Amino acid sequence: MTKNNWKISPSLIAADYLHLGDEIREVSEGGADYIHVDVMDGHFVPNLTLGPEITAFIKKATALPLDVHLMISNAEVSFKDYIQAGAAILTVHVEAVTHLHRLIQEIKKLGAKAGVAVNPATPIEAVSEILPDIDLVNMMSVNPGFYGQAFISAVLPKIQRLREIADKRNPALDIEVDGGVKLENIAQVASAGANVFVSGAGVFKNKPYKDTIKKMRQALAGA
Ligand code: DX5
Ligand code: ZN
Repeated sequence: MTKNNWKISPSLIAADYLHLGDEIREVSEGGADYIHVDVMDGHFVPNLTLGPEITAFIKKATALPLDVHLMISNAEVSFKDYIQAGAAILTVHVEAVTHLHRLIQEIKKLGAKAGVAVNPATPIEAVSEILPDIDLVNMMSVNPGFYGQAFISAVLPKIQRLREIADKRNPALDIEVDGGVKLENIAQVASAGANVFVSGAGVFKNKPYKDTIKKMRQALAGA
C-alpha cells in the first residue's frame, strides 16, 4: 500500500544563500510542506554547510516544520543542538551512528520526529530492526554531499522493498527520497512507494518556486 499524504520538502542546499530569508519565505508561501536543511560536516560527506546557529535562523524565517538531515560524524553528540534550534524531524545516517536505537529514543524524548537515512549502497536490511521505532526513512538517491546530481534509479526497487517491509512493521512510516528528485521523476518516485520528496535543484533552480511546486503536486496526483 502506498501512502499518498504527499509532502514536498525543498532542500535549502540549492537555494541562493545571499537571499536565504527570501528563498525560505518564497517556498514556504509557495506550497512546500517542509523545509529540508542539509547539515554537512566535511567529514562524513565531502561538503560543509551549516550548523545549529544557522538552523535557528532558518526556523525564524518559516512556520513550516524543519526536516533536518544530519550528514555528520558526531550526530550522537550534537543532535540535541539541532532539536533546540527547531528541528521538527531529525534524520541521522545509519552509516554514521554506533548506538542507533539509543539515539532514536533520545531524539523522540526531546520531542522531535526521528528519521534514519540510508545511502544508495546501504542495504535496507540495515534499518529493518529500527523500523518500528522511527517516523521516517530517508532513502538517499544520490551520494550525499552536493545538490544537482543525477537521480540514482537503482534506488527505485529499494524503495518498493522498503514500503513492503514497512507495511508489515510500521505502516505509518514516511518514506522520504532525497537526491535528484524533480518534476520529471517525482511521479515515478511516488509510484515506487515514497511519500516525502526532497528537492534541491528541482525547486530552487526553477523559479517561480510556487509554480514548480504546484506542477510537482499535479504530477503526484497522477502517480
Ligand atoms: C545530499 C542532500 C540532498 C540533495 C538535495 O546531497 O542530502 O538533500 O542533494 O539536492 P538535489 O535535489 O539537487 O539533489
Ligand atoms: Zn538531504
